[in-house]
Amino acid sequence: MKNVRALILAAGKGTRLVSNRAKVLHTLCGTPMLRLVYAAAAGLDPEEILVVIGQDAARVRESLEGHAASFILQAEQLGTGHAVMAARPQIAKHEGDLLVLFGDTPRITTATLQKLLDHHRRSGAATTLITTRTPQPFGYGRILRNARGEIDAIVEERDASPEQRKIDEINPGFYCFQIPPLIKALGKLSNNNAQKEYYVTDLIEIQRRAGDKVETVLHDNFEELRGINTRHELTELARALSRQKNLDLMAAGVTLIDPERTYVDLDVTVEKDVTLYPMVTLEGKTRIGEGTLVRSGTRIVNSVIDAGVEILDSCLITDSEVKKGSTIGPCARLRERTVIGENCRVGNFVEIKNSVLGKGSKAAHLAYLGDARIGSNVNIGAGTITCNYDGVKKNDTIIDDDAFIGTDSQLVAPVRIGRGAYVAAGSCITRDVPPDALGIARGQQVNKEGWAKRRKKSG
Ligand code: UD1
Ligand code: CA
Repeated sequence: MKNVRALILAAGKGTRLVSNRAKVLHTLCGTPMLRLVYAAAAGLDPEEILVVIGQDAARVRESLEGHAASFILQAEQLGTGHAVMAARPQIAKHEGDLLVLFGDTPRITTATLQKLLDHHRRSGAATTLITTRTPQPFGYGRILRNARGEIDAIVEERDASPEQRKIDEINPGFYCFQIPPLIKALGKLSNNNAQKEYYVTDLIEIQRRAGDKVETVLHDNFEELRGINTRHELTELARALSRQKNLDLMAAGVTLIDPERTYVDLDVTVEKDVTLYPMVTLEGKTRIGEGTLVRSGTRIVNSVIDAGVEILDSCLITDSEVKKGSTIGPCARLRERTVIGENCRVGNFVEIKNSVLGKGSKAAHLAYLGDARIGSNVNIGAGTITCNYDGVKKNDTIIDDDAFIGTDSQLVAPVRIGRGAYVAAGSCITRDVPPDALGIARGQQVNKEGWAKRRKKSG
């Protein structure tokens, strides 16, 4: 959209969260707060989105990696007005409008920002801001109006008189400024208040006194405009977003056995006819394909699960891929860079890391497969272990198609089991097994006839 820019203030620490991380990095259903505000602004397609950073600057910048944001450093955080002042060199170059948003109001939508901008442009005001009413205005700036009902100023909780504190119309912190009058008003901002900070909210009184037109838009959905200052508010909002995500999933054809106990991050996609049992957690950029079933207690992170897969109870799957028709678990663990082919079976207490399991292969019980390239229709017996780490580096194991690994075998990598070969149960394989051969590597059994009987007698 032409002639509009957005400025998101995200330099503060968020003292009330009592955290080593900046407030805007705290996540809601897997997404940092700042990214949600950014997305709402980006929805307007402004010419530029500027983000003021300060506390934890490097990580805050990182949280917007891949997004077209420009960053402005506010080295010392002397208030919300001071944060806008820090951006003055970048904004003064332009005319048109500037939306100023806080990084800690993550539920804001593009539609509401659009409403603010439309009203602003229609009225020709120098500044327009959103207001809302709430029975619990504590902590918010209150809107002061004159006898004619026009806004005169915003007074912060700490600076307000007991009478002013009773006002239930609050400032949720969404402003649209025409840039030239904003630049003028910024020059008059002072820190003469309870906190000795430069308040962006003081710009309203400054502009009104200068005779600039200031407009307000009343928005009745307080929940959408809420700021996050405490862990309690963070959790409440996360729950609300989670509930909404689950409703959206159900509307899109996903069965949730108990939506109150199913946790799906905002960026996760789930296709229709998927069933999610209670205590399932789907995180990050996970995708679940049509008709797949995920049983209780399973957590899946940044993974792609194809259609028609069955993930049984209590699995942990991270950064992996499972192709269609496979069954995983119960109690299986797939770690980074694992690809399970079509129609495979990975059973209980199997851990697989950085490995490929070819189509139709099975590892049904108790195994560790690491750095392994396993072909199709391979049977991995119970208790198989790839000894991939020699104490210095990781080594690969290759198991070709149709091979059979007997139970309780160790495959000391680097090693290759040829196509169709067998490894006898209980073997410790240290050399390659050629295709179609039997590799057997275990102590010879000796039976001592009558030994037990003799022992009992002598005892
Ligand atoms: C602010 C408003 C208050 C409003 C409320 C709405 C002011 C003075 N007060 O209060 O009227 O009702 O939001 O949620 O503006 N920030 C910076 N640099 C700074 C200080 C803050 O970038 O020097 C950023 C913070 O990272 C945060 C945002 O500005 O994202 C708001 O700051 P915060 O301290 O949370 O303001 P509130 O006290 O909530
Ligand atoms: Ca706040």
